[in-house]
Amino acid sequence: MQITRKVTDDVVWAGCNDRRLALFENLFPIPRGVSYNSYVILDEKTVLMDTVDSGMSQQFLENVAYALKGRSLDYLIVQHMEPDHCGTIVDIMRAYPQAKVVGSVKALQMIGQFYDVSVFDAGERMMAVKEGDTLTTGSHTLHFLMAPMVHWPEVMVTYDEKDKILFAADAFGTFGALNGKLFSDEVDFEREWLPDARRYYANIVGKYGVQVQALLKKAATLDIQMICPLHGPVWRKDLEWFIDKYDKWSRYEPENKAVVIVYGSIYGNTENAADALAARLTEKGVKDIKMYDVSRTHVSELISEIFRCSHVVLACSTYNGGIYPPMADLLEDMKALSVQNRTVALMENGTWAAASGRLITAKLEEMKNISLLDTKISIKSTLQNGRETELDAFAQQIVEEMQDGE
Ligand code: FEO
Repeated sequence: MQITRKVTDDVVWAGCNDRRLALFENLFPIPRGVSYNSYVILDEKTVLMDTVDSGMSQQFLENVAYALKGRSLDYLIVQHMEPDHCGTIVDIMRAYPQAKVVGSVKALQMIGQFYDVSVFDAGERMMAVKEGDTLTTGSHTLHFLMAPMVHWPEVMVTYDEKDKILFAADAFGTFGALNGKLFSDEVDFEREWLPDARRYYANIVGKYGVQVQALLKKAATLDIQMICPLHGPVWRKDLEWFIDKYDKWSRYEPENKAVVIVYGSIYGNTENAADALAARLTEKGVKDIKMYDVSRTHVSELISEIFRCSHVVLACSTYNGGIYPPMADLLEDMKALSVQNRTVALMENGTWAAASGRLITAKLEEMKNISLLDTKISIKSTLQNGRETELDAFAQQIVEEMQDGE
C-alpha cells in the first residue's frame, strides 16, 4: 500500500519511515525510527526532491508512482548524497528513463562514486546547478542555494518561489519516524520531538555550526512559509521557534540555564559525590538538573544534553592512571563536535592518585571558550563526611556562575 501525504495543492510527501534500523549511520540509536523525506512536485514538469535509503526502495517506488498519478518524472533533484537519501537514485532513474538528475557539481560526481552510472546513461541525464541557478517547471520556480557542509560538501537546498517552501536537505531534520503525522503542528513537537531534534542536530550537523549560520543568513533573505526537511516533520507553523533553536545550536549557545552532571563511576563512589552535589544545587534553587551515568548513556544523548545546558559537571574516576574510558570518549566527541561556550566544573576521584581532573582539564583546553570553575572536588575513594562545607562552597560557586549575566 502506498503512503503519501499532501503538503500543498501540488506538492506531495512520498518518503518512507524506517522503524527497523537500529543505528543511524551505524552509530546512533534511533528507538523512535527515522523518516527519509522525499517530495513530489506536480507541475507542467514533474519533480522528485531526493530519494530514500535503499532498504526502503520498494515502498518508495510505490509511493512515488502513486504521487505522480500515472505521470512520468522529469527531474530528480539530489540535494544531498548521503546514502540515507541517495540510496534509491538508480532505481528511480531506471523506472523513469526520461528523468534528469539535478544537483551540484560535487553531488553529480558523488553519484558516480557510489553507483555504476552507466546503467542510466548518466552523461546525458545529469544537470549541474550552481548557487543562484533556477529551474522553472511551470508555475513553480526552484532556486538552488549551495549549503556546503550542512552536512556534506555537495549539499544544496532548494527554495520554491510559488509555495514559499524551503526544501532544507538535512537542516531542520530530526530522528523519529512520522507516525502518520507529517506536520510539526500535528504533534506536540516540544515534548515528543525536541530531544531527538536536538540529538540529531548536535551529533549529525553539530560540528558545522559556521556553515549552518551561513545557511541561516541566506534563508533570512527569503520569504519562507514552509520548511520541508529530509528527516522528520514539515514546518508550516511556528517556523521562527525552530529556526531560533537552530540559530542557538549553531552558535553553540546553551538553550537553558541548566546543569548536566555526567559521572563516570566504577563502584558508585563518584556517583555518590555527584548525587550529593545535585542535592545541594537543588537546595540552592537550581531547578533544571539532569544526571547521567557516562557508562550507561549513549554518547549522542550526552552530547545533546551538553548542547542544551549552560553548565556541565564532569565527575570522573581515575582509571589506570588515566580518564575513565567512557568519559574520555565523551570528551573526544565534545571536541569533534565543536562544543564550546560552556562552563564546566570538575569532580575527580582516585584511590592511588587522582589524575582525572588534570587530564580532563587538558582535554577541555583543546576546546573553544570553555570556562572551567576555579575549584574542583578531589576525592580519595569516597567523599567522606566532614567535607560538607567544601561541597557546599563548590555548589555555591556553580550557582553564582549561573546567576552571572542574568
Ligand atoms: Fe540525512 Fe546527511 O543525511
